[in-house]
Amino acid sequence: HGCWRIRRAEIDAAVQLLLKLKVDYKQMTGQDYKAGCPPSENLIVSNNGPAADDCDGEDLVDPWNVSASSTKGVDYDKLIVRFGSSKIDKELLERIEKVSGQRAHHFLRRGIFFSHRDMHQILDAYEKHKSFYLYTGRGPSSEAMHVGHLIPFIFTKWLQDVFDIPLVVQMTDDEKYLWKDLTLEECHRFTVENAKDIIACGFDVNKTFIFSDLDYMGASPQFYRNVVKVQKHVTFNQVKGIFGFTDSDCIGKISFPAIQAAPSFSSSFPQIFGGKKDVPCLIPCAIDQDPYFRMTRDVAPRIGLLKPALLHSTFFPALQGAQTKMSASDPNSSIFLTDTPKQIKNKINKHAFSGGKDTVEEHRKYGGNTEVDVSFLYLTFFLEDDEKLEKIKEDYTSGALLTGELKKILIETLQPMIAQHQERRKQVTDEMVQQFMTPRPLNYKF
Ligand code: TRP
Repeated sequence: HGCWRIRRAEIDAAVQLLLKLKVDYKQMTGQDYKAGCPPSENLIVSNNGPAADDCDGEDLVDPWNVSASSTKGVDYDKLIVRFGSSKIDKELLERIEKVSGQRAHHFLRRGIFFSHRDMHQILDAYEKHKSFYLYTGRGPSSEAMHVGHLIPFIFTKWLQDVFDIPLVVQMTDDEKYLWKDLTLEECHRFTVENAKDIIACGFDVNKTFIFSDLDYMGASPQFYRNVVKVQKHVTFNQVKGIFGFTDSDCIGKISFPAIQAAPSFSSSFPQIFGGKKDVPCLIPCAIDQDPYFRMTRDVAPRIGLLKPALLHSTFFPALQGAQTKMSASDPNSSIFLTDTPKQIKNKINKHAFSGGKDTVEEHRKYGGNTEVDVSFLYLTFFLEDDEKLEKIKEDYTSGALLTGELKKILIETLQPMIAQHQERRKQVTDEMVQQFMTPRPLNYKF
């Protein structure tokens, strides 16, 4: 009799434990526990929400904030481990060169694009003559774009050229309306203005579709169907874990990630892919956008669609230093695409954080530090000549090259680059924007 009583207590305790584990499971994965149905590989445990990062002195990286704890900037190797992506290593670089038949872009050679997901699969397929498409985007939060905003587009243009593939560019005017104190009209106008800067990067109109969410969502039944599929398969709990949403965020924000996910699926663009569901997608983006695509990759197999592959870039540092990225709202933190040669010169001379020593004597004696010097960092983005860059690095480190001289090299690199951009942008007419933004078949072959 007593024995039976002990058994019942044991069973009760075991049942309680199981129930608790089920609750924990749901909290961590956002899904109900089902026996024999393990959670998917990268179901996100909330380890990158803003709250989690603030308290332990780690780098903070999410779609809305980037701040590093060290003056050298974000520790990107740690980020790879934390996000569970893969490093772009020598082997992958060589493969990209072999498959594309081109020397790797200097953004790849210099580790500016440094991390990826499933790039080998994209190359495997391409080698078997199976094409893929590119997807990138821009949140149009103001008319003014700065040089940092060009990085993904410069790189995407290179990918489009070397692989000869279609590109879709999402302008998330809806996102900016939801997050910022802006009207719908303003956001839509910024889409059109920003589209001109994107077009000025040289994209091929026959291979590129740029779309405003505010326009395309309502115009494309297939796009909206994919949005709804994603919405059905991601819980509030999951997006809270990934993006740090709280109960007081508006419901538009909570469902927005499904809208950024949808262009990852070729069936969202029947006019381009003729209803094909299985054209692989490659997304070049800055690493702060990865949370959106972790979610996308998690949900894709559950709605019968392909996971997109990714190439991640580091951030373009603010003039004040690599601890934070450029911000369009602080005019002195960035070089704008509308800046005059004189403004460029003044901003760099006044604000570019220097890794040099305080006096010429000390600098000559001890040399400068290129790891934290913003002018040098900018040159790694924009000075294409490897030998020149290496020589500058040597001379600056040894003290032969002074900070003022280094700044002058940067000024003389950026001034013509931005002037050329302004010239190309002037050539972009409203009709051209209209053409790029019209849903239509694109010209590509399999
Ligand atoms: N959310 C991005 C931003 O605020 C815009 C964006 C939408 C994007 N889709 C994308 C960026 C795909 C990179 C890749 O800028």
